[in-house]
Amino acid sequence: MDLTSYASIIGKKVEQFIYTVVSGHPKKLYEASLHYIKAGGKRLRPVIVVLSSKIGGGSEEIAIPGAAAVEVLHTFTLVHDDIIDKDELRRGVPTVHKLWGVEMGIIAGDLLFAYAYKCLVKAMDYGVPSDRVAKSLDALTEAAITVAEGQALDMLLPEMPNASVEDYIDMVSKKTAALFAYSAKIGGLLAGADNALISNLFNAMMNAGIAFQIRDDILGLIGDEKVLGKPVYSDLREGKRTILVIYALKNVDENKKKRILSVLGNRDADVNSLREAAQIIKESGAIEYADSLSEFYANKAIEIVENVKAADTEALNMFKELVMFMIRRNY
Ligand code: IPE
Ligand code: IPE
Ligand code: MG
Ligand code: MG
Repeated sequence: MDLTSYASIIGKKVEQFIYTVVSGHPKKLYEASLHYIKAGGKRLRPVIVVLSSKIGGGSEEIAIPGAAAVEVLHTFTLVHDDIIDKDELRRGVPTVHKLWGVEMGIIAGDLLFAYAYKCLVKAMDYGVPSDRVAKSLDALTEAAITVAEGQALDMLLPEMPNASVEDYIDMVSKKTAALFAYSAKIGGLLAGADNALISNLFNAMMNAGIAFQIRDDILGLIGDEKVLGKPVYSDLREGKRTILVIYALKNVDENKKKRILSVLGNRDADVNSLREAAQIIKESGAIEYADSLSEFYANKAIEIVENVKAADTEALNMFKELVMFMIRRNY
């Protein structure tokens, strides 16, 4: 089976699981919390949990609670991220805070954070031994801590006068790659895989996740809003130090640098000045640089995966396909 069909099957199972677990009152809170789940999404993290379980000798079934847990945790980070980034579009629909207000958005995020744990604990009902569930819960906790640290760095980087590529890689490893890596770890732990295998899958996804975020930065500048389902130029407006901005600020002349800095973090910047800044960034060669950096991390990921001895080779092949999709995607 190809990756896309498999992702859609897993996506549906995970969605059903989430609807069973995430339910209650008041209605408004649950509507706000389930808004992004209903809107779709690529469901990459759930697929990583399931494939990692299979690679580690486990089944698809025992991995579903873990798959649901990481998607629910991911959804929580999206709700709060859209508040922080002041974005109005996600997964092709208006953002949670846009529809229900910032206050409800904060609570919806909190609710999802708690439900992520509830989903994972249900692995007990699928016959997963309690020590494996405990280790998986610890991994989910590490993921949540790391994402929070990464989101703080994302916010703090613009205050650092000369944010470097190294600072950027540290930030995206935490805000984005960590959840991919811990998704692999949770799949392996639920399956009872050995530590060496889990560590390989974890490291592969850490590298692939960095490549994924670099691609996300590129799409945030040259992507199609309709295909992406989220806004372009929002990173510029919010003054984010994306890999493109870091590269451009270092490689353009003083005049162009001034023009980029005049829109960076300027919420009053009109669409023409945003376009002009985007054009300067593109002409600086930042996209080509980011592409090759993304390729570098994806290759590191593939190299690690090549050395994995999988219990299920079809699952391992899909895992490789997934890494390639993570850098080539246009949505
Ligand atoms: C969005 O992740 C947040 C980032 C880490 C860039 P995805 O691109 O996986 O979003 P969905 O889940 O498909 O909506
Ligand atoms: C991605 O943040 C990381 C998290 C959501 C935790 P971004 O702000 O870079 O991602 P998008 O572009 O809004 O999806
Ligand atoms: Mg954002
Ligand atoms: Mg953000």
